[in-house]
Amino acid sequence: MQYAPIPYKPLIAFCMGELGLISRILAPKYGSYLTFGSLDVGKESAPGQLTAREMLGVYHIDKINRDTALYGLIGNPVGHSLGPYILNAAFRELGINAVYLPFKVENLREFVQGFKGLKVQGYSVTIPHKEAIVPLLDGLDSLAREIGAVNTVVSKEGKLVGYNTDSTAALRELEEAIGDLRGKKATLIGAGGAARAIAFGLKKKGADITLVNRTENRARRLAQELGCHYRRFEDVTKIDGEVLINTTSVGMYPKPDISPVPPEAIRPGMWVFDIVYNPLQTRLLKEAEERGCRALDGLRMFLYQAAQQFELWTGRPAPLELMERIVRKRLKIK
Ligand code: ATR
Repeated sequence: MQYAPIPYKPLIAFCMGELGLISRILAPKYGSYLTFGSLDVGKESAPGQLTAREMLGVYHIDKINRDTALYGLIGNPVGHSLGPYILNAAFRELGINAVYLPFKVENLREFVQGFKGLKVQGYSVTIPHKEAIVPLLDGLDSLAREIGAVNTVVSKEGKLVGYNTDSTAALRELEEAIGDLRGKKATLIGAGGAARAIAFGLKKKGADITLVNRTENRARRLAQELGCHYRRFEDVTKIDGEVLINTTSVGMYPKPDISPVPPEAIRPGMWVFDIVYNPLQTRLLKEAEERGCRALDGLRMFLYQAAQQFELWTGRPAPLELMERIVRKRLKIK
């Protein structure tokens, strides 16, 4: 059977809903006749629609074309992340034709396989996929292999290689604040991917680590791997230490009113570090300050890990000051 050639017809094509958000941004890359945003927050005419201000100011949609390189964040949820704000601004600042997108991913295996065709150059990986992504990658750098968790993926000639920038970022933040960590007693709340990265880093620095996690088995396994202590969650108030670190997402937007530990677990004089950065002053840190502790929020770790990702992807130094300014503006802090 013969078909008559179809005359060129302008087409507006994108997907709806929260999962379709990325296609609204990528519409100009793939030849959609147009894409559009809402006039303001709350004025969306369909779910998944961004505001015109976000499309222009965050994603620089007017600069997206066929050649725009793709980067993105894999997580669930991803709506709270400030990654798109700082990484898109960093690309723009350095004149790199690239866009960084939030990929809300429920089925990680299907995503990694299914999105290969999009030729994404690099991913950030966040909750809850940092460990689960390890066996789905084509390779790992030595630190990520040792930690067993990945927060950064670099596509090298189509092969996905995993890195971990959480560990260096967290340790840099802790050492800048506390100094030498050798012999310091540190309690870590959590036993997921972020906990692994921080615990392995602390171990190398000679800290004395105790793990506490809601799911005790997970803490036990990680403690065995690391050669450190673990305690039952119920015992968290009995642990003595100089440093308390929350590596979980408890206290993060949109549920900022909860703390990962009861206040009695916070001993006066402790250093308390919360990797949550949205909000910056979590309930845990507020209670820590009320108890005379020194509080370290998640801002620096977030910036340092993102800066190192940017450097792995582009081979160029990240505009750290600009990135910090943007985060502070978004979080409405000075
Ligand atoms: P990531 O890779 O980003 O660390 P993850 O592997 O899903 O994410 O780990 C999340 C960590 O936060 C885990 O330690 C998890 O505890 P469980 O192992 O019991 O799941 C912890 N976590 C998440 N939500 C929690 C909650 N509401 N209360 C206590 N711990 C929580």
